[in-house]
Amino acid sequence: MTIDSAAHAAPAAEAAATAAWWRDAVVYQVYLRSFADGNGDGIGDLVGLRARLPYLANLGVDALWLTPHYPSGGADGGYDVVDHRAVDPEYGSVEDVEALVVDAHALGLRVLLDIVPNHTSDQHRWFTEALADPGSPAARRYFFAEGSEHPPNNWQSLFGGPAWSRTPDGRWYLHMFAPEQPDLDWTDESVRADFEQTLRFWLDIGIDGFRVDVAYGLVKAPGLPDNPGSYSPTLFGHGPEQAMTWNRPEVHDIWRSWRAIVDSYPGERMLVGEVCLADLDQVALYSRPDELHQSFAFRLLKSGWDAHAFADAIDSALAAFRAVGAPVSWVLSNHDKDRQVSRFGGGAVGESRARAAALLMLMLPGSPYLYAGEELGLPQAHVPDEAKQDPIFFRSGGARPGRDGCRVPIPWHEGPDVGFSSDPQVPAWLPVPRGWSEYSVSRQAEDSGSVLRLYQRAISVRRDHPLLGSGDATVTVHGELLRVQVEDDHDAVTCWVNMGSAPAIVPAYGEVMLASDSRVLPTGGSVVLGAGTAVWIAE
Ligand code: NOJ
Ligand code: CA
Repeated sequence: MTIDSAAHAAPAAEAAATAAWWRDAVVYQVYLRSFADGNGDGIGDLVGLRARLPYLANLGVDALWLTPHYPSGGADGGYDVVDHRAVDPEYGSVEDVEALVVDAHALGLRVLLDIVPNHTSDQHRWFTEALADPGSPAARRYFFAEGSEHPPNNWQSLFGGPAWSRTPDGRWYLHMFAPEQPDLDWTDESVRADFEQTLRFWLDIGIDGFRVDVAYGLVKAPGLPDNPGSYSPTLFGHGPEQAMTWNRPEVHDIWRSWRAIVDSYPGERMLVGEVCLADLDQVALYSRPDELHQSFAFRLLKSGWDAHAFADAIDSALAAFRAVGAPVSWVLSNHDKDRQVSRFGGGAVGESRARAAALLMLMLPGSPYLYAGEELGLPQAHVPDEAKQDPIFFRSGGARPGRDGCRVPIPWHEGPDVGFSSDPQVPAWLPVPRGWSEYSVSRQAEDSGSVLRLYQRAISVRRDHPLLGSGDATVTVHGELLRVQVEDDHDAVTCWVNMGSAPAIVPAYGEVMLASDSRVLPTGGSVVLGAGTAVWIAE
């Protein structure tokens, strides 16, 4: 079967807009708690991150996105925010964010912060006021319902169990995630006004934009009626069966007002939204010209190692975002999903497939988001149950493993302590598996065949070649081979990925620019691709 995506000439307005940095930026997601511990308490922090910025500059990325750095109740890895205009002392101070931005900019790196508008922590001042006084203005900022025996509707928390819990005085309150994350009611004007202040607070200190958490969820159906369909808890891929909770049309108005604020600042600030809907056409609507600049296309994050699944993911994302004139934001991994080396089979097989997938993603038109550690080929870590922190594990009674395994600290050095913490005696907040020294940055930097060196090279070649990350793409499947070609009027670059289990031969009309590993062998006019490898060819 062949899947063709129609190549379109970019209209003039779109072509003019391609200058914006974020349209083809390589963005690196820093999981702050696990990146680098600068003060020796076993927890990653802003000082540690600042010291590692040269590593990111050297990797060649354009921007970093920082997972939440706010004071937090600690129930959901920082996504339960107590104060949106402050920094958790565990991570540092507002001055540290300012210094981070200055240092990053000096190295040519932009900085995106995470913003979490769908819910607060139950320790947020508003929620404690709302608990203390049901008639207070703060109580109108959340969803409360009078106590009856059963929850007010059939909505389920994405972390498991009902989306409603009881207050000490017997009312119900809504939380689409953990009970410690009460949902905000965005029909309340003071909620809107307060978040606008938060945007300005951080934009004023010079950050380059925000990744917007749960951007598809802020508005709920009036009256909170039951959802129509049966429910399966998952963080990705919601559809019409949960139409009362997610993707309400009114949510787009919020993004229009945020866009106006962000665009009023100089320097091309930007917003990228987390929109976990199954239908990419719906996801792309969040990136219409007057809304968020980007919304993540998560389909590759969910695709198995299969040429048709990948082709469909790429084609449908390109078509959906082309229709709104926005670039695709590609994601192979993040802090919510098992790492790709493990997803693609684990061990040497998983690693070679992950290398090939990286080459593919780094040539697609749009903006790839890398998750800290994927450039080291880290597998999903085994985290013993007693060390687990993720509410998904606890709320499911241990039935779901949770997300800790993709959040384990980065190994920087060889040796038993792997150099994550400035104090080698202090254990990291999540245990680093034995043997992870072999994935360390210091070791991979010395090894020209390492995953790290492949990412570095791919990003550097991409930087130097005008077609990589832009151009018009054509996606085809040939047996178990996936072929993506990007082209303009003069040149073309082809990426072949062998997604089968045996070597395959592909034609090569031009020069081999980059191979995912040493099992890619050019042989005059053609290239032998080992199973699970990829190649870039300049045609
Ligand atoms: C999406 C975030 O990526 C995830 O980590 C978090 O648990 C939920 N949103 C709730 O904020
Ligand atoms: Ca620390």
